[in-house]
Amino acid sequence: EKGGYDYFMLKEIAEQPKAVADTLLGRIDPSGSLTLDEVRISPQELREVDKVVIVACGTAFHAGLIAKYAIEHWTRMPCEVELASEFRYRDPILDGRSLVIAISQSGETMDTLMALRHAREQGSKVLAICNTNGSTIPRESDAVLYTHAGPEVAVASTKAFLTQLVACYLVALYLGQVRGTKWGDEIQAVIRDLSRISEEVDRVLETMEPVRALARTLAAKDTVLFLGRHVGYPVALEGALKLKELAYMHAEGFAAGELKHGPIALIEEDLPVVVVVPSPRGRSVLHDKIVSNIQEIRARGARTIVIAEEGDEAVVPYADHLIRIPATPTLLQPLVATVPLQVFACELATARGNEVDQPRNLAKSVTVE
Ligand code: F6R
Repeated sequence: EKGGYDYFMLKEIAEQPKAVADTLLGRIDPSGSLTLDEVRISPQELREVDKVVIVACGTAFHAGLIAKYAIEHWTRMPCEVELASEFRYRDPILDGRSLVIAISQSGETMDTLMALRHAREQGSKVLAICNTNGSTIPRESDAVLYTHAGPEVAVASTKAFLTQLVACYLVALYLGQVRGTKWGDEIQAVIRDLSRISEEVDRVLETMEPVRALARTLAAKDTVLFLGRHVGYPVALEGALKLKELAYMHAEGFAAGELKHGPIALIEEDLPVVVVVPSPRGRSVLHDKIVSNIQEIRARGARTIVIAEEGDEAVVPYADHLIRIPATPTLLQPLVATVPLQVFACELATARGNEVDQPRNLAKSVTVE
């Protein structure tokens, strides 16, 4: 059942290339356009939508945060992302023209279910992105796009997260395709890159030994910080969440631009700080800004653990540890950048003697509010 791995989590991390490929399967036709017939909300209805609202919890919420960048960029439609547990209590503004997307691996998360019920009461259409066939959330939604990660047993979500991202990109690209967008050429190119991305995830997995070795040297630390910008910011949040739940360490993710507004005061000698660096080719301004952030924290003594694209030489002088990831379009980078953070957290948990698949106080499916 664990397929020769010590933990389900390791097995599920290793299954990610397949999970990603399976989630794309049959959804990109040979001409390079998307067929999401299973999304039973008609193209006409999708053209009438004037805003997207995403609700989810935990790791699925981080997938939603990343989806916002993709949806707004490719469709120019406003997209809000909200923690499902907060959503209905603030009387959100919703109507028949809002498309609500509920993201849930288990399909049974009570907070997410209550949020989608609230949305439907306001007349909004709800699309579920879910990994569990026939579970409550898809049953109560207007439409569902299943992620094909296969069963996820470890409490900490890994392969489900990557497939949630894939599903979110598909929805964003599909909305762009159906509604028309000025990014036609870019959308075509991204669909091509997406169809090859599982190989890139595979390549990342092959280079994880140094990440494991690094994690073991940090087992006695109390705190690890994570920084990112743009889609790297939710990746930083996800890296921190994995470390909290698995290693029981104090971990926080920040948007790197916020450093100077407070968090930089936390930097002290030898504090490990993981930095997710955006591609230097895409939004190069962001890349240059984050390189200065790395310089700033290193000058204050931080031990910098830098995740950067292959060929990005600008980070080399400031990286105490450098983790390379393949070049991808900016918006797709989370699919490769998250993997080292999962491995890092898993290895730290093991080094600290924690139960990897069943972290204390946590349950796989949270069916209470
Ligand atoms: C983190 C984790 C949780 C879940 C969250 C939502 O590793 O597993 O944060 O992501 O409880 O669960 P689902 O996706 O089942 O709604």
